[in-house]
Amino acid sequence: MNENNAIELKNITKRFGQVVANDKVCLSLKKGEILSILGENGSGKTTLMNMISGIYYPDEGQIMIHGKEVTIRSPKDSFDLGIGMIHQHFKLVDVLTAAENIILGLPGKEILDRKAVNDKINELTGKYGFDLDPDQKIYRMSVSQKQTVEIVKMLYRGVDILILDEPTAVLTPQEADRLFAVLRNMKSRSFHYHYYT
Ligand SMILES: Nc1ncnc2c1ncn2[C@@H]1O[C@H](COP(=O)(O)OP(=O)(O)OP(=O)(O)O)[C@@H](O)[C@H]1O
Ligand SMILES: [Mg+2]
Repeated sequence: MNENNAIELKNITKRFGQVVANDKVCLSLKKGEILSILGENGSGKTTLMNMISGIYYPDEGQIMIHGKEVTIRSPKDSFDLGIGMIHQHFKLVDVLTAAENIILGLPGKEILDRKAVNDKINELTGKYGFDLDPDQKIYRMSVSQKQTVEIVKMLYRGVDILILDEPTAVLTPQEADRLFAVLRNMKSRSFHYHYYT
């Protein structure tokens, strides 16, 4: 077990009936590292990430977060460990604005002051170089802008391990370059760890 690892997986196995989606997978992610996982369709990338984000529970193996063995039984457990996953299919409410989506589900006292919400969003987007208007409605946004809302939503909640499932699949080559630039920027500016497939 290494204290400098944000994530460490040991011999993770996950079966769906006869299908072995993950067979004794070991993986480690250092703090401050950007790690890409490559694999053909059906090779088990999403399944592996879903076990870190609390959607599935491993049949065997251990998960260590920041050097401590953890049990992740739900997305809330994962969230409480500072892990945020951006899924391939976004989960945003189209008729709401970016800011409204970002604060959706947070306790009332955190969202009553809308100016403070926008200020915090603008601080995050300015710091990392995201291009986002908090007052824009989701249905008016490009796919890339929607992805930005999803990422900022996680950062707003204070996650420090970010998992992106096939983030470039929905982007144009230019948008993908822009995403990589933002991720590198996050790495160099105190956002400690992320990670994507
Ligand atoms: N909920 C499920 N029930 C049954 N089988 C599943 C389930 N989820 C995944 N699988 C199977 O597990 C294997 C790994 O799938 P997974 O989606 O993790 O692969 P992937 O690497 O993310 O693929 P892709 O590149 O297509 O996203 C596949 O054989 C898939 O059919
Ligand atoms: Mg997948």
